[in-house]
Amino acid sequence: MTSNSQTPATFKPSGPLAGKISVPGDKSISHRALIFSALAVGKSQITGLLEGEDVLATADALRAMGVKIDKKGDAWTVYGVGVGGLMQPTNALDMGNSGTSTRLLMGLIASHGISATFTGDASLSKRPMGRVIEPLSQMGADIRARETSDHKACLPLSVTGTCPAVPLEYRLPVASAQVKSAILLAGLNTPGITRIIEPVLTRDHSETMLKGFGADITVETNAEGSRVISLTGEAELMPQKIKVPGDPSSAAFLAVAALIVPGSDIIIENVGINPTRAGLYEILQQMGGDISFENDRTVGGEPVADIHIKHSALTGIDVPANIAPSMIDEFPILFVAAAIANGTTKTRGLHELRVKESDRLSQMAKGLELLGVELTEKEDGLIIEGSGGKPLSGGRTKHAMIESGLDHRIAMSFAVAGLATKSGLTIDDIAPVQTSFPGFSDLLTRLAS
Ligand code: S3P
Repeated sequence: MTSNSQTPATFKPSGPLAGKISVPGDKSISHRALIFSALAVGKSQITGLLEGEDVLATADALRAMGVKIDKKGDAWTVYGVGVGGLMQPTNALDMGNSGTSTRLLMGLIASHGISATFTGDASLSKRPMGRVIEPLSQMGADIRARETSDHKACLPLSVTGTCPAVPLEYRLPVASAQVKSAILLAGLNTPGITRIIEPVLTRDHSETMLKGFGADITVETNAEGSRVISLTGEAELMPQKIKVPGDPSSAAFLAVAALIVPGSDIIIENVGINPTRAGLYEILQQMGGDISFENDRTVGGEPVADIHIKHSALTGIDVPANIAPSMIDEFPILFVAAAIANGTTKTRGLHELRVKESDRLSQMAKGLELLGVELTEKEDGLIIEGSGGKPLSGGRTKHAMIESGLDHRIAMSFAVAGLATKSGLTIDDIAPVQTSFPGFSDLLTRLAS
């Protein structure tokens, strides 16, 4: 993206946030709802789908492979072609900013007798794809990727699938739900049992949803405590009616905004609180955040609640590394909470943050330093000295200019930080927010007025 297409936005100190709101549908579940529905035999219906750019990229790619998808009101209908039924796309698949679309669809194509080229924006084109290329190649796919000067395999890349593919037993070397899901998707059209050994639990939406779609999938724990996921191909998936809950990763920005702006009291309705995603809320509670879960219920196999958040004096803590996978997307906004807390917050074990939509450790450190926050950037985490509830000073400059680095979560984190500054801040480009949280700025403004 060039500077010409950037959309700057200013966020200023705000009065208390109040009201009842809901956030757009869960991004991870939305991608999976579209993809699994595309592989079922017949018509699935999805409501609450996130209509952000990332999910729309997945929908467009599926359409390019012969899947009819349409929308009436809030309801999306996917006319599934059955496992093995995808067609050869004629053009390159443009994945935009979306790592999830790319890695999951690479898995899908790996065991179909078709080939596809994947392209993406400047951020996505820097992200490592070796983690999916390795297992999918072992299953028989032929994948050619651009090699960077530091020998990383990146977009653009092409995948030529093979049918039948070879079932794989694979131990995940990185805690990644995207890698796990890519292999499961490849396994759906592969004869025999595809087995994944997951030493560190990551979000489990794929396993839960595949079971719901009727796949033969089991999850066990082995003697060393790892999860063992076994999927029998060639699966026949049955069409479903799916209700996508609100995204806890999107709700996180509003939750922290309410915690740090004095006098705030908000309820975010209908949020997914799957334990593999809810780590941030646990940590914020440990920091003294007044957060309660109301109307707990289960929707489509996923735990859902209304989250009630009141302004609270937060205290810095030592965040254990083993909670990271359950809040991997929430560290940028946790760093903002830490910057306002009383005392020191230490985080570690966060190497993965360096290969997200941006290098989130360095991007957050740079921006927070501009706001006068004292911090130390380590290779695998940040150590942040909180202001003790005082507004951030704007640091050396009165009104800080923050770079979002083509990263939606960096942009939203600093938008929230802006509410807790003395004189506001400007983010160079708010456009990336469209990937996961359309309407974010309006919602934040509405809560504060
Ligand atoms: C996702 C998994 C996570 C997360 C991403 C969405 C998913 O990535 O950061 O935003 O939907 O599977 P990794 O699995 O690579 O950690």
